[in-house]
Amino acid sequence: MARLPHAARLALSAGVLFLGTSTPLAAQRVSASSARMNRFVDSVLARLTLEEKLGQLTQYRGRFSLTGPQTPEAGAEDIRAGRVGSFLGVRGAAPTREMQQIAVTQSRTRIPLLFADDIIHGWRTIFPVPLAEAASFNPALAERTARIAAVEGAAAGIHWTFAPMVDITREPRWGRVVEGAGEDPYLGSAIAAAKVRGFQGASLRDSLSLMATAKHFVAYGAAEGGRDYNTTDVPLRTLHEMYLPPFHAAVNAGVKSIMAAFNQIDGVPMHANKALIDGVLRTRWGWDGILVSDYTGVMELLQHGLSADSGTVGRLSIDAGVDVDMVSNIFYKDLPREVRAGRLPVAVVDSAVRRVLRTKYELGLFDNPFKSSSEAREKALTLTSAHRAEARAAAQQSIVLLRNEGNVLPLAKSVKTVAVIGALADDARSALGGWAAAGRPEDAVTVLVGIRKAVGADTRVLYAPGAPVEAADTTGFAEAVRIAREADVVVMVVGEHQDMSAEARNRSSLDVPGVQQQLVERVHAVGKPTVAVLMNGRPLSIPWMVQHVPAIVESWYLGVEHGNAVADVLFGAVNPSGRLPITFPRTVGQVPIYYNHMNTGRPSDEKERYTSKYFDIPFTPLYAFGHGLSYTTFRYSAPTLSRSKGTTADSVTVSVTVTNTGARSGDEVVQLYVRDDAGSVSRPVKELKGFRRISLAAGASETVTFRLTPDELSFYGAQYRRVIEPGTFTIMVGPSSDRVQSTTLELTGRTRVLDARSIR
Ligand code: NOJ
Repeated sequence: MARLPHAARLALSAGVLFLGTSTPLAAQRVSASSARMNRFVDSVLARLTLEEKLGQLTQYRGRFSLTGPQTPEAGAEDIRAGRVGSFLGVRGAAPTREMQQIAVTQSRTRIPLLFADDIIHGWRTIFPVPLAEAASFNPALAERTARIAAVEGAAAGIHWTFAPMVDITREPRWGRVVEGAGEDPYLGSAIAAAKVRGFQGASLRDSLSLMATAKHFVAYGAAEGGRDYNTTDVPLRTLHEMYLPPFHAAVNAGVKSIMAAFNQIDGVPMHANKALIDGVLRTRWGWDGILVSDYTGVMELLQHGLSADSGTVGRLSIDAGVDVDMVSNIFYKDLPREVRAGRLPVAVVDSAVRRVLRTKYELGLFDNPFKSSSEAREKALTLTSAHRAEARAAAQQSIVLLRNEGNVLPLAKSVKTVAVIGALADDARSALGGWAAAGRPEDAVTVLVGIRKAVGADTRVLYAPGAPVEAADTTGFAEAVRIAREADVVVMVVGEHQDMSAEARNRSSLDVPGVQQQLVERVHAVGKPTVAVLMNGRPLSIPWMVQHVPAIVESWYLGVEHGNAVADVLFGAVNPSGRLPITFPRTVGQVPIYYNHMNTGRPSDEKERYTSKYFDIPFTPLYAFGHGLSYTTFRYSAPTLSRSKGTTADSVTVSVTVTNTGARSGDEVVQLYVRDDAGSVSRPVKELKGFRRISLAAGASETVTFRLTPDELSFYGAQYRRVIEPGTFTIMVGPSSDRVQSTTLELTGRTRVLDARSIR
């Protein structure tokens, strides 16, 4: 027999023909050309009943995937009957193969299944949580870790990941702040695009690629009060300038799937938001991938109050542009009625089915439905030493040195006795962070283990948990104080356990939880040099520590290599280089506080009463966006422009020379900010428009240049169109959003319209 695609061989050997026609489905040769693909897809579509079409739009959950109300799992009979198009949370080469076998040999349609999962920051090799990885300000690194996650996930039979989460947020109380890249749309866009490239690889057909999903569309991170799922109140310009850009970047990077968000905007829940899904995504941006609902998102339109009838909400949802119904089962159960009653044109269903079939085609599943399910490969490609090495590098670059008074850090490896204190120091699950896919605590190196491995044979490492993370139990304080007294240096690991920064894990306080703060104060009173290592998935308000504890290391949740990377930084094998991707407030009462805010008519001023601030605390944050220290020092020259005057059509180059003025090599993240000094509408006080991570040996200099294009100087003007207006712009460069030097650019000429379409 001539070599046929796998599914074709399979179908033929099983002696089955598609729908009783003379042409076995998978024997139809597929080619890369989209015309052929569309013909193929149409031919498949033409043979499906209405129920089978809706089956393609239906996603069931497997047993790993409960992230909302209990919903039914599908069994073999559902697959055979064509009631399932995709699965969430069926994992592993063997189980996916078994279910795929049923779909392609026993169902009437023979259409392969899609297997989806939440592969957020690694599959089994767990990398830093996304907020931490964003602190690396290193999109190339973010791309590499996504690639490895894809290799491992695909080898475990998965085709489709529900990542990256590209939600911008200014809400540290929100539990899911941990899953995104922080507060800034420019950084968020760079990371979003990198993640998509990494997950999807060079081609979706590749057996080691995953289809990526940019989520949650849109403004999910703007939940009022930081309460997950909550209503948002987002002005149009803010929507288009802050929340939409990372989605646009993901679309431009070729993302094949986007997930709708649970929130509503201006009264319209996103699962029925035709203006944004159909209007912005599909029409304005020309995106043609799969729009998947969130978990029970279609059903939740009932609670949102759009209708009391599930057929109606299903119709509103598919009509708005939702293609796949994740676990609500409303499309399958209720849409046949809507179609047959003439309320829903079958063409709307067909468009959604086409997108799903095209995706299956592009993934190569009609050629080889088992393309990624091989137990041997799964074993060979999972948690390899190369993957672990990349995890360590990623973890090292994600650590942010917040404070280092008197150069307490790095510690000498020859130190006689180290006291390690804190329950989190020995908490492997927290080292991994939430959404750890197939990650296992036993794979993770804790801070305690990392320190033990890093020190020499003559160093004693003492350990006491001191206090639990959440409970108000002080019985361990005495032992913690005792070992601190015995030690030359104290490392306290405090913060949140991994399940405190996660979906639905919102906090009303940003303080270090439980009695850990008291523990730090008691141990600090012993008077030994003390280092605080924070583990957390959100900004914490730690004003006392910032006043009293000389060295503070933000370690977030760094994945399998957490403890090794922390020890690398503590003992100086690695010079820290991460930067905060989100503002750290002094207290929760300052929230929302973010660097790219508007000036107001009465800008904050400590000395002036009638200005925008609280009277009981400074108006500045505890740590600004972009903050992060190093064991060396860097000097910046004043920024210079290729031209200080130009027109609204010109690009300009900004240059700055950075010199390592310290005694050791290190990485620096050079940041470029811009302010439009006067516009037809108010503009933020500064906006990130470029960043570059550079490595400099001691004494070395490098001139960094950024190209500022008209696009980067544009905004949605008074007419809600993207424009660049003449006038002056303050161009700022520095190591952090609150430490910049500036120069002025003047643009003359007319207001230039970059996009004539109004967003209104
Ligand atoms: C709900 C979450 O909001 C979403 O991000 C996730 O992908 C789904 N559950 C599936 O687990």
